[in-house]
Amino acid sequence: MWPDRRILDLFGIELPIVLAPMAGASGAELAIAVGEAGGLGSLPCAMLSPDQIRNEIGVIRQRTARPLNLNFFAHKSPPADPDREAGWKKRLQPYYAEYGIDPATIPSGPGRNPFDEAACAIVEEHRPEIVSFHFGLPEEALLDRVRRTGAKIIASATTVAEARWLESAGCDVIIAQGAEAGGHRGIFLEEDVATQPGTFALVPQVVDAVSVPVIAAGGIADARGLAAAFMFGASAVQIGTAYLKCPESLITPIHRAALSQARDDRTVLTNVFTGRPARGLMNRFVRETGPISADAPAFPLPTSAAGPLRKAAEAAGSSDFSPLWAGQAAPLAKPMPAAELTRGLAREAQALLSKAAGA
Ligand SMILES: Cc1cc2nc3c(=O)[nH]c(=O)nc-3n(C[C@H](O)[C@H](O)[C@H](O)COP(=O)(O)O)c2cc1C
Repeated sequence: MWPDRRILDLFGIELPIVLAPMAGASGAELAIAVGEAGGLGSLPCAMLSPDQIRNEIGVIRQRTARPLNLNFFAHKSPPADPDREAGWKKRLQPYYAEYGIDPATIPSGPGRNPFDEAACAIVEEHRPEIVSFHFGLPEEALLDRVRRTGAKIIASATTVAEARWLESAGCDVIIAQGAEAGGHRGIFLEEDVATQPGTFALVPQVVDAVSVPVIAAGGIADARGLAAAFMFGASAVQIGTAYLKCPESLITPIHRAALSQARDDRTVLTNVFTGRPARGLMNRFVRETGPISADAPAFPLPTSAAGPLRKAAEAAGSSDFSPLWAGQAAPLAKPMPAAELTRGLAREAQALLSKAAGA
């Protein structure tokens, strides 16, 4: 029924829809719902401790026998940079003063964890069918250990060069992440996000450049996007923002309300929350300190600096300091349970593809 079955057969799933792993925004409930509906459920691990990862996997494995994708960040932890971190806090001082926050009380912490020995041990212990990486790949020795578990290895590319690099490093599948995508750019070979292609341009070029199957990601939020991805030669799609609107997502009511008002021309790439460019809805913090600031410390060090502002503002009912991650296609998605969304997308895309084929 699908024009290309490579990913369905490789992953052992029924529908060519991957739930995008969304650190801080998706957990076991979304993974279970999408997996049970026939797509691929993903668990983002970058913001979880090893114990939390084990717990979430336990819940998922108990409630579904479907394949699971465990997702990790593959960045290198930057060395501490006290001067730059202090400079950034100084930049934020007027906001701390506005909310009565003493910057000396803000703990510094990384906020997001790279794939490391402890994470690798969890993969070896729990043997997820698929392991996915964002920001490149971990060091060869760790990657080999993942490969030896039998997991299929997939990773995001934001350019043709990154896709080729990932294929030569042994990835089984490449996720082509266009500039429309919500959340962090997976960029890892270059730094300049301004030159990055959108999904419409990126996916067919990646398909032409590599021989492994390609998953299209970024700006796909309805059946038209799913059908179009197949036309571009993709074998599946990875969808994030549309699933944020589902009741199973973990986003705050403030983020949910902002998403319901999202517009095509209100998202922007910003590094002021984490130090790496990520797409979210424009708000006061992003506008006044960025959207891209050369002063922000390296990823993921700025995370802790904005945290107390977010907390204080949200307590007062404001989204001014919240990271409101969203992709450009956010308005296309309707809020509904994730299983319903997954099945509906597949059903409608199949109808569109049959129509295009003149069936
Ligand atoms: C809230 C949010 C968090 C994300 N976190 C991750 C993550 O932890 N790991 C990852 O590989 N990708 C992450 N992404 C990127 C997605 O994998 C995917 O590329 C993107 O959602 C696709 O574009 P769309 O949002 O337009 O569907 C995140 C995206 C969003 C919206």
